[in-house]
Amino acid sequence: MNEITRQEFLADPDDAITNVSDNPSFESILNARLSRRSILKGSFGFAATTFLGGGLAACAGTSYEPSLKLNFNAVAKSLADAVVVPSGYTVTVLYRLGDPINAATPAYMNDGADTSASFASRAGDHHDGIHYFGLSSDGKYSAGANDRGLLCMNHEAITPAYLHPNGATIVNSVRTVSDEVIKEMHAHGVSVIEVAKSGSAVTYKQNSGFNRRVTTFTDMTLSGPAAGTAAMITAYSPDGSKTRGTINNCAHGATPWGTYLTCEENWAGYFRRITATDNPNRTAKELASFSRYGVAGNGRELWATATASDSTDTSFSRWNAMKLGTSADGRDDFRNVANTYGWVVEIDPFSPTSTPKKRTAMGRFAHEGAWLGPVAAGKPLVWYMGCDSRMEYIYKYVSTANWDPADVNKGMTAGDKYLNDGKLYVAKFNADGTGQWLELKFGSNNIMAAYAPYAFADQADVLINTRLAADAAGATKMDRPEWGAVNPANGEVYMTLTNNNSSNRTISNLDAANPRFYNDPKGTAQTAQRGNPNGHIVRWAEAGGNVAATSFAWDVFLFGARSTADGTNVNVSNLTAANDFSSPDGLWFAPSTGLLWIETDDGAYTDVTNCMLLAAVAGKVGDGAKKTITSTDGATSKAVDTFVGKALGETNLRRFLVGPKECEITGLAETPDGKALFVNIQHPGEDTAPTFSNPSSFGSHWPDGGNARPRSATIVITKDDGGQVGGSLS
Ligand code: FEO
Ligand code: CA
Ligand code: CA
Ligand code: CA
Repeated sequence: MNEITRQEFLADPDDAITNVSDNPSFESILNARLSRRSILKGSFGFAATTFLGGGLAACAGTSYEPSLKLNFNAVAKSLADAVVVPSGYTVTVLYRLGDPINAATPAYMNDGADTSASFASRAGDHHDGIHYFGLSSDGKYSAGANDRGLLCMNHEAITPAYLHPNGATIVNSVRTVSDEVIKEMHAHGVSVIEVAKSGSAVTYKQNSGFNRRVTTFTDMTLSGPAAGTAAMITAYSPDGSKTRGTINNCAHGATPWGTYLTCEENWAGYFRRITATDNPNRTAKELASFSRYGVAGNGRELWATATASDSTDTSFSRWNAMKLGTSADGRDDFRNVANTYGWVVEIDPFSPTSTPKKRTAMGRFAHEGAWLGPVAAGKPLVWYMGCDSRMEYIYKYVSTANWDPADVNKGMTAGDKYLNDGKLYVAKFNADGTGQWLELKFGSNNIMAAYAPYAFADQADVLINTRLAADAAGATKMDRPEWGAVNPANGEVYMTLTNNNSSNRTISNLDAANPRFYNDPKGTAQTAQRGNPNGHIVRWAEAGGNVAATSFAWDVFLFGARSTADGTNVNVSNLTAANDFSSPDGLWFAPSTGLLWIETDDGAYTDVTNCMLLAAVAGKVGDGAKKTITSTDGATSKAVDTFVGKALGETNLRRFLVGPKECEITGLAETPDGKALFVNIQHPGEDTAPTFSNPSSFGSHWPDGGNARPRSATIVITKDDGGQVGGSLS
């Protein structure tokens, strides 16, 4: 496409509204401006476009003269072991670690004695990404259903200490109690639970036939260009067509046809690969791939060290990614198993017996999530994705097939249509406030056999080694991309860059989109935390409002900071005590109102406050100004020009919730009417090693209180007057 300048994008404050033109020329942008003006006269800005969850029409077209108003008083920062919300709101604990999902499973004892087998029908640990699918009376997906729905949520990881009577049993770095490992393998994955809402009361239905656990044991089909290739062959699947389970499911996505996307993030760490032994047995390309993804070490939970009672049972040996067999292709070991993880996985929650599919066309990396862009009939679908690691990239996937609303409720068949064939791009952020989407296609953008660090063979190789392809293409290294969110009012995309440290983000490699290097002084000793410890949120507008565009304009929506930090170069967004935050992670636009929710997963500001949830009224790309930020490491200083969104002030940004001790606030979903907000409280008390003989020493007792062991849990927040949560349209 023709590149357009940032000035052309932003000359008219109205021009960033999404249209569905597939011709992103300057003329088409002008035409779009004109058509938008006429559309706005009808107070409806998104005529051809719908979003998941429905309820959009009321807020469309309002983002530039917002009628959205926050409806609560900011809560103070807190170190209490409690969920704090504003007055006028009520918190209900819905679904905790260990809660049963069928009638036959007893209540969770929460003392480590619950059996490993029972965990196949209990809530997993570390609740993370979450999505609400409305459920119709005939058991189908119904986007607008408020009273009955399916909640899909990820169980990213575990706090092993609290799963067993006295923590994990480990002798000389070996898991000697294999039953404990089976319990841990069940505690990962995904839950599907049916929920019901009656007035402001929200409950989950323990005996629903829709309830399901997907775990590390669940059979999964590999699909798309990398499926069935030699790199996918394992002892579990000699033809490379399938793999077993999913792991480290962080954030998520959804499809317009009514399926859930669960995203595999820090999967690499679960595999055992002792490099001194294994490296001499591997090819140069294999070593380059392992190195780029971090497949090395003992395995974070040491699962590969457990012993199965039956020698044909590969439940534990499957976590050993070393070359142990004698076959030429890997059908007698798990040397290739790591290639079967790191994908976006589609699950049909409306079909509890369906086999999930890993969608290889969407690339393999540390997938945080996959966020659906504007949906329009006859146009491609787009998902925005982040690779959450320091100095990693932002991606998008654009389907080849154009959206047909008749595909709603077609489940995995629709997935085969839209998610197996498309273009994968990586983002490059330019210093002038524009950016490019670089296609990750074999034979283009330096992605070829002649690329010295990694000789690409074909498109399947590109998809399995997406990070290396993005390196070759010249993408911009970001400060840990976490969640994305798409503004229902104008199609602009927001993405959190949670933080970075001083060994990766140095004063010399600052750039316009990652422009700060500073010290966050932590604790009474005011320990230096240099780099970008508080993070920021970047946003962009696609050229012409076209989801398939290959250029965009960007700015920084918000910079995290202590309100007391230097207001020129650190607290650039002028945060106050009512809205200061650090390490933004979860991000989500409420479909009913367009309110933007921001969650934190922080370790920097935690001397002052537990992690939190904030509510914002977002503006638009270019509503602020160009700004020069000057950073110093004490010896040298550097000035970097960037683009900063208009300061929100306390009117448009307020702290809504603070969580219990040592937790992360993550996962957001709402009923379509915006009257019930689901939030996940992940791993309260995880930082304090427990002394089991002294339960009062636990790092948290939330949510059960007393001397109870802490539990990750989903909470529901409702407004006491029955209104919309956080904000409403006036
Ligand atoms: Fe699982 Fe990137 O947080
Ligand atoms: Ca996250
Ligand atoms: Ca995080
Ligand atoms: Ca976490």
